[in-house]
Amino acid sequence: MLNNRTKIKELLAGEATNYEATVMGWVRTFRNNQFIALNDGSTNNNLQVLAELGTFDESILKRITTGACIKAVGEIIPSLGKGQRVELKASSIEILGDSDAEKFPLQPKKHSLEFLREIAHLRFRTNTFGSVFRIRHSLAFAVHKFFNEKGFVYMHTPIITASDAEGAGEMFRVTTLPIDGTAPRNDDATINFKEDFFGRSTNLTVSGQLEGELAAMAFSDIYTFGPTFRAENSNTTRHLAEFWMIEPEMAFYDLEDNANLAEEFIQYIIKYAMDNNREDLEFLAQRLAEEEKSLPQDKRSEMGLIEKLEFVLSNKFERLTYTQAIDILKESNHNKKKKFQYEITGWGMDLQSEHERYLVEKHFKKPVILTNYPAAIKSFYMRYDDNCEPGRQTVAAMDILAPGIGEIVGGSQREERLDKLEQKMKDMHIPMEELYWYLDTRRYGACPHAGFGLGFERMVQFVTGMGNIRDVIPFPRYPKSAEF
Ligand code: 4AD
Ligand code: MG
Repeated sequence: MLNNRTKIKELLAGEATNYEATVMGWVRTFRNNQFIALNDGSTNNNLQVLAELGTFDESILKRITTGACIKAVGEIIPSLGKGQRVELKASSIEILGDSDAEKFPLQPKKHSLEFLREIAHLRFRTNTFGSVFRIRHSLAFAVHKFFNEKGFVYMHTPIITASDAEGAGEMFRVTTLPIDGTAPRNDDATINFKEDFFGRSTNLTVSGQLEGELAAMAFSDIYTFGPTFRAENSNTTRHLAEFWMIEPEMAFYDLEDNANLAEEFIQYIIKYAMDNNREDLEFLAQRLAEEEKSLPQDKRSEMGLIEKLEFVLSNKFERLTYTQAIDILKESNHNKKKKFQYEITGWGMDLQSEHERYLVEKHFKKPVILTNYPAAIKSFYMRYDDNCEPGRQTVAAMDILAPGIGEIVGGSQREERLDKLEQKMKDMHIPMEELYWYLDTRRYGACPHAGFGLGFERMVQFVTGMGNIRDVIPFPRYPKSAEF
């Protein structure tokens, strides 16, 4: 048996000394041929392993290099060094994996996030990414905990689909047909997908929502949590081509119920991270504060990371309609001084992220739930609002906007009335025959229902304070990049 080691987090947390322990991990630094800073990923805090002078062969000592993997056995003793209560005085050290210090790309110094992205296979071994991915784990765990406690059923919706759930045409094709021009053709020269693997044209899913709705029409409350894919050519700090989304779908919920659940959910998972990842959050808060020192005053955050999270936990999200938001934007000094890149043209326009960020960061200074958008700028499945002003048809949509991030949640009450849904699908050129199964839920026991999608990476960004979405997913996929 090899795995008889104690994790470093546990050793550092303990009060006891003068007992034997085995540790394994990766060498961060080796000072004075005596002091090894050892890390095993359980915490950012390294365990000091003391290799007393004269105890170990030079042949072993020279292999204790930054990046090397070692096993050390010895006594846990009170530490004389500062910053740690205990250390391990090694009686034996075994090199499990050498690391050529000349070639190992991670030097014990500060590296830029851009550089670390290029060596994403090794960046887990830095403090920043250690903290980010332990928090990511906690948030994922909290997602399941939240829904499980509420009696939701976790539904695994398919990754490969034949439908475009958002109707936005941003899908990656899945095919086994040859791409060298020899794929079978129909008489009209289009590709004959009947000959393809699934006997039809298929894609990677952009959202599990439509299948989620089917399940909600049986279990009442379900959620999905899986990868989704968008072939949109967006090179921003908020977009990925492959991202994880959480999509709850609830029968017997209207838009207000939906917003209530989303707010409770977001606060719950943030609180879980605050309660369980304090050390990592404090590390990232410090990192962010350092990083912001180099920014001009007006570009710095008003609150520190922890303060911001506490603020979100203790304040209600601001709720207002799209129509009210347009009025605020129109009347803003920012608009009057023509500081928006995209002009506020009036009711009906789609909001750009600069507009969303103005509302959240400048006007309300807290998370905002925007509701009741114009039907024309939202997806086909959203429920028409009743009693709209003439020429101002809205839908029961909601977007949640977070400070520093912008849109973090998109959701809606769904159109459950068959005639209205069919008419809208026709108008928006959504293929109705292909989606017969979706329409069946409206034929057999339809009910008011609602749901939303939370972009998991945007949530991780919000909690960790990381500025670029590519730094909160282990191996980011974005235009012209699918490394690792
Ligand atoms: O607003 P979206 O497109 O909504 C849906 O997909 C619905 N089917 C959700 C539902 O009602 N069940 O996406 C939902 C969220 C966005 O608010 C955003 O947080 C995230 O998913 N998102 C992305 N995250 C990273 N990269 C991208 N390219 C993203 N596109 C959307
Ligand atoms: Mg959206």
